[in-house]
Amino acid sequence: MCGIVGYAGIGDALKIVIEALKRLEYRGYDSAGIAIRSDRGLKIVKSVGEIGNLENRVRGMSIKGATGIAHTRWATHGIPSEVNAHPHPDCRKKIALVHNGIIENYRTLRKELLSRGHEFRSETDTEVVVHLVEERYYPLRKKGIEDALFVAVREVIPLLEGSYALVVVAEDEDYLVGVREKSPLVIGIGSGENFLASDVSPLLKYTSEVVYLDDGECARLDRKSFRIVDKEGNTVQPGIHQVDWSPKDAEKGGYEHFMLKEINEQAGSLHDTFVGMTGENFTLSPMLKTLVPYLKSIEIIGCGTSYNAGMVGKYFIESLTRIPVGLCYASEYRYSSPAEHTPLIIAISQSGETADTLAAMREARRRGSVTIAITNVVGSTITREADFTLYTRAGPEIGVAATKTFTAQIMVLDMLGLRLFEAKKGDPAQLGRLEGSLRGVPRLVQKVLENQERIKEVSRFLSKAHTIFFIGRNINYPTAVEGALKLKEISYIHAEAYPAGELKHGPLALLSPETPVVAVAASDHVREKLYSNVGEVCAREAPVVIVAEEGDETAWNYTDDVLTFPACSPELSPIPASVVLQLLAYYAAKERGCAIDKPRNLAKSVTVE
Ligand code: AGP
Repeated sequence: MCGIVGYAGIGDALKIVIEALKRLEYRGYDSAGIAIRSDRGLKIVKSVGEIGNLENRVRGMSIKGATGIAHTRWATHGIPSEVNAHPHPDCRKKIALVHNGIIENYRTLRKELLSRGHEFRSETDTEVVVHLVEERYYPLRKKGIEDALFVAVREVIPLLEGSYALVVVAEDEDYLVGVREKSPLVIGIGSGENFLASDVSPLLKYTSEVVYLDDGECARLDRKSFRIVDKEGNTVQPGIHQVDWSPKDAEKGGYEHFMLKEINEQAGSLHDTFVGMTGENFTLSPMLKTLVPYLKSIEIIGCGTSYNAGMVGKYFIESLTRIPVGLCYASEYRYSSPAEHTPLIIAISQSGETADTLAAMREARRRGSVTIAITNVVGSTITREADFTLYTRAGPEIGVAATKTFTAQIMVLDMLGLRLFEAKKGDPAQLGRLEGSLRGVPRLVQKVLENQERIKEVSRFLSKAHTIFFIGRNINYPTAVEGALKLKEISYIHAEAYPAGELKHGPLALLSPETPVVAVAASDHVREKLYSNVGEVCAREAPVVIVAEEGDETAWNYTDDVLTFPACSPELSPIPASVVLQLLAYYAAKERGCAIDKPRNLAKSVTVE
């Protein structure tokens, strides 16, 4: 989605905001722009396409100033174009504003503003806000009101419906104003300089101290200090968070793509996540311990890859604890009318900012459920709204395709399953065995990572296909679903996943020598059943790739394209098997020359419904 950067300091604002904007590229965007309070007035420059185009536009322009804002836009209202790109100026071009989110009542506001003589230049919902600010700002300034821009923005907030993170700059004010409502906005505290941004990644180079604004909060920020007020105008004591990610974590580190780097980091991220869920680092809260023995059901919610991790968690937790676990897309959950109350909801979101997941979790809380959030981002919105938070310790994930956060989410869910099993007085021997196996998972993944050549070879033939089916059974059905999602989002090859037993109920009609099928096999109770289904595929002459455990001789009876992962407890196999599928998707997309880290039409963090 869109990205925001704001800077107030002593440095070259233009250079700093463009540099910071580049670190938001991963969110996906179609145009970009800057507004700098320069020695020659407020200078606004925008361009369509890559940030490189914006850099070309400003090259040679003399834009000197130490306060500025910048934005990457992902079109929602109006086509990607220069006029629709942010920042948007007011009629006098002395105020400029950037916005993430959607102003839902913009049509009414626009009509009113037009009738009052405002000149609109863009088709965006955003532009109404800057005109509303100007209507208040100039009279306040004329009256000599201190911090006129800060006051004007706060007066506008009650008029807006929808979700927004806004940052405003004005030619005659040496500070920025930022406000947040259902769309993230973070203050970065520097020395002699302060920042605003839509997430922490552009700030890592400058500071590790951040403050996450809450809904309805408005900040005034200059180079020396910042002040936050709530909706009622009361000053808010900021909660300062230390971010323990280093700027290097958010760099490619010699890899061609962030996605490849992040896939290759998984032995480390899984180890860190495992450790975070053991010993002194994790105890089930007394409240949950009391709840668990009587727990009638759990429901897991999330979107996309987080939902798929939740599906693995469902199989794992249900079979271990015998607690029924439901699973629902967050976008569906919020509008559902469940017949029964679910006492415990687990909401999964790597970013902690996905609008659908947040809304679903709010709905769950409204229905009286206890909520546990699983996220990768310390201080993200989900952590502030859930009753409990469990962190994946995967480090920043920049590639749009989730990889290391997916496997880390499974690790957290598995470890949570163990703690629930413990609280239900489950067999200590089984518990010890499973925990020992989970400790060994990073090693299994490392072995997969050391053998990428064969995966690369197989990906070459898959990259030529128009449609690929992924099949699996039981706990590896979600592995197949995630494998298909990874492939389609970065390679644009149509991919669909099915529980292998479902093929004969419809999809078999589509199989032919042109439609490869990727099957995931583990050494579990459904292995033989899966191979029967693979036999059905072979009978239709569809090419088969089998992702199987090392030493599984049966796989070779069906195909020469067997990709292996080390032998492990079947309930843990989704992690190493998924790493194989991530690499398969990556190399297929590379073969097709796709923009792997920034797939078309997709954004890393989906903060609108
Ligand atoms: C994953 O590869 C996708 N980019 C997408 O499905 C993602 O998992 C989904 O949007 C949920 O994001 P979240 O985990 O940040 O909530």
